[in-house]
Amino acid sequence: MGLPMRISRREFVMRVGQAGGFGAAFLAMQQLGLMPLAEAAPRLDTAPGAGSGVRVAILGAGIAGLVAAYEMKALGYECTVLEARTRPGGRSWTVRGGDSVQLIDGTTQTCAWSAGQYQNFGPARLPSAHTTILGYCRKLGVPMEVEINTNRSTRLENPAVGQGQPVEQRQVVNDARGHVSELLAKCIQKGALDAELTSQDRDRMLSFLRIYGPLDKVYQYTGSERSGFTTLPGAGDQAGVLRKPIDMHTLLDENFWWAILFEEIFDMQATMFQPVGGMDRIAYALAEAVNGTDRRTIRYGAEVKEIRRTAGGVRVVYTERGAEKSLEADYCLCSLPLNLLRKIANDFSQPYRTVIEQCTYGNAYKIAWESRRFWEQDFNIYGGIEVVTTGPNVVWLPSGGLFGERGVLVSGYGFETEDSFALLSLNNKFAASRLTVERLHPGYGKELANPVYVPWAHVPFNEGSWIASYGSGQSAYIDDAVDPGYELLLQPDGPIYFVGEHVSHVRAWQEGAALSALRAVQMIGARERAKRA
Ligand code: PHE
Repeated sequence: MGLPMRISRREFVMRVGQAGGFGAAFLAMQQLGLMPLAEAAPRLDTAPGAGSGVRVAILGAGIAGLVAAYEMKALGYECTVLEARTRPGGRSWTVRGGDSVQLIDGTTQTCAWSAGQYQNFGPARLPSAHTTILGYCRKLGVPMEVEINTNRSTRLENPAVGQGQPVEQRQVVNDARGHVSELLAKCIQKGALDAELTSQDRDRMLSFLRIYGPLDKVYQYTGSERSGFTTLPGAGDQAGVLRKPIDMHTLLDENFWWAILFEEIFDMQATMFQPVGGMDRIAYALAEAVNGTDRRTIRYGAEVKEIRRTAGGVRVVYTERGAEKSLEADYCLCSLPLNLLRKIANDFSQPYRTVIEQCTYGNAYKIAWESRRFWEQDFNIYGGIEVVTTGPNVVWLPSGGLFGERGVLVSGYGFETEDSFALLSLNNKFAASRLTVERLHPGYGKELANPVYVPWAHVPFNEGSWIASYGSGQSAYIDDAVDPGYELLLQPDGPIYFVGEHVSHVRAWQEGAALSALRAVQMIGARERAKRA
């Protein structure tokens, strides 16, 4: 692996994670082969009508619960979805002007953005490879647009580089490539790779590096138009003036290079998508398809209080507008975050209770602001992600409504670590978030208005962003060992099936939630068939 002997792979991941925010940690894990790629979608081989007379209680109307209800209703199951909130989607949540953001500590923020402005505080991007969730978008006619996940015009800032003067991503990407190519060409010319390459391949490699670098006739990297111009080419005698390359030493700062590698993460590669007008359009479309005919399948404002086993199945006790109710069913699909199940009286068997008790969740947050689209109007930057080294470290520009007058950007998306950001007061968090934009675009921080802060660890009915570990102490994103907690959740506890992103290898994505639901539907179908045979 080329790692120093005394550092374990896991420790390496943690170090990169600390240096570069969670995006870097994911990237490092993937490079080390610790993070599996997307699961293939299971095919439902259950016949329509297979579920008639079978009652199913679905807990939670997030993506997993909605997909389960959508498929099971079509198969004839009698479904009831209990949802504590007054909206579908769960973490797939879009905030617009007038919405309120309530946190478990009792604080409320009211979003004051102008009409048409929004932010997806939960999931905000859909990779092309996530064919299950994209398949529902296609089937339900959810209008989609490109989500601009990466953009070479975005800026990077590092106080160690050029006195903190931000640089464009295109320059960091292409100058790094130019320097690496030059070094490789030197090695080849000095004969350092004679054992590895035939003389024919040495020539081929040198010709390749001339173009790839690009390198000049003597195999030196002296800059390239790929890195951009200080003066753009124009008419008449205005010739373009190229930027001087950033030196190799500077580019080797790891706080700098992780940002340019982000776009190589499998799940982050173009083309990425988002629904036009907000991620919650997917959840609303699914909910409409599920609830459209009877308006009764999904019960909003229904808080689950107890999950009990009965002789023939399950009984779920819940409250609806203060009144206690109970729901009897043959099966239960439980999508509630595992950490919340700790607070719900239940009859789970001991191994499940242990996982529920000991698992941990991430505490990702986002802060978003409305502003004039100065990044488009004054800097020619249309969508993408900008990165700073200290403080809230990413600025995520809107992909929708390009060329409009105003837009909503995220300044700060990452985990809240105890040592720094989490301890700040709300106003200081907003100040830190504004400073991030100021670092990237000096003089523009003051244009940001009406911030909204969503820390998922403090959002009622979640209290976490996504699964972090299954109780073994090992990260859920280090998948080279079988995690007994995860393996357990893949099996039903009697009539109770666990679903959600945490019951998939596509953790922290809507695709994982949808796949886990399809898998449970498939398993219940097989169980019913076996019962009837
Ligand atoms: N799906 C989330 C996101 O796109 C969390 C995540 C980040 C998952 C990076 C994997 C890699 O931001």
